Amino acid sequence: MTDLTTLEADVLAQVAAAGDLAALDAVRVAALGKTGSISGLLKTLGSMSPEERKERGAAINVLRDRVQTALNDKKAALEAAALDARLASETLDLTLPAPHRRRGSVHPTMQTMDEMIAIFAEMGFAVAEGPDIEDDFHNFTALNFPPKHPAREMHDTFFFNTKEDGERMLLRTHTSPVQVRTMVSQKPPIRIIAPGRTYRVDNDATHTPVFHQVEGLVIDKGIHMGHLKWTLETFLARFFETDVVTTQFRPHHFPFTEPSAEMDVQCDRSGGEIKIGQGTSWLEILGCGMVHPNVLRACGIDPDEYQGFAFGMGVDRLGMLKYGMPDLRDMWASDSRWLSHYGFSAFAAPNAASGLS
Ligand code: PHE
Repeated sequence: MTDLTTLEADVLAQVAAAGDLAALDAVRVAALGKTGSISGLLKTLGSMSPEERKERGAAINVLRDRVQTALNDKKAALEAAALDARLASETLDLTLPAPHRRRGSVHPTMQTMDEMIAIFAEMGFAVAEGPDIEDDFHNFTALNFPPKHPAREMHDTFFFNTKEDGERMLLRTHTSPVQVRTMVSQKPPIRIIAPGRTYRVDNDATHTPVFHQVEGLVIDKGIHMGHLKWTLETFLARFFETDVVTTQFRPHHFPFTEPSAEMDVQCDRSGGEIKIGQGTSWLEILGCGMVHPNVLRACGIDPDEYQGFAFGMGVDRLGMLKYGMPDLRDMWASDSRWLSHYGFSAFAAPNAASGLS
């Protein structure tokens, strides 16, 4: 038996001395491999007597198990040490400043639109949408535009080529067609705003061919201009974040409202900057009126039973006023310096709880 004890001590010493996984594997092959020292011992069992084989076999198995266990333990220890060494050499220094990245921002017009939607949503208005490419009926006829009204002509409206059936599609000149679509498809009471892109052949410091509107429509029984005035004043005070605004109606004409008005808001222009809600000047801010009975009729609503008001405002213009941007054309010049100066963080989404801007 002494030969086994010596062999065990010898192999275990080699296991302990193995400095890496390759050396350890060489020890394993030398002991337990096909021609290894312990495997060699097992081969000698065949020539023994049964009693001798039983005793010797058990002893060799014990030896083999011990060596195997030592090999496993050493392997695990070497692997753990190798992992520790790797982790120590691969640390990342997170205190380094992050490299500069170009960051996108929310365009002031979109921010303004979201603010307007947030305020009207809190006042109980739903958002309605419609197509940018409209037909004559929804953009003009249902809105009581007389057949020869100048707004239908080329200088105001972008028309498409005439179709084979004679119809001429157009880019909507306002979001009022969404009001028509809503009145045709829903029963009163109706309380919607129609935010969206609108198009007119126009280009100067305060007009761009593409612009944005939020129009509003309320249809119910007993609606009058007092409701209109309160709704608009409440909206404007919240939008310009002042306690009160003073407004005035100025008579105006729109084919689709009667009476029609433009609303001015009192402001102060003394400091070279427009301040809303105080002062001695007036600023024209939106168009509005009571929905014309012809429009209600064209949409299948009985004007003797229901009345309504409508209003429309330019989003880009309100954004310019609120955020002090002097020229509308800059807003669509895609100048990244302008965008990073006037743009808003995508995380600053306006809502009634956390504030508007
Ligand atoms: N549709 C009008 C425009 O684009 C605005 C408006 C809407 C006026 C509703 C009155 C009522 O100019």
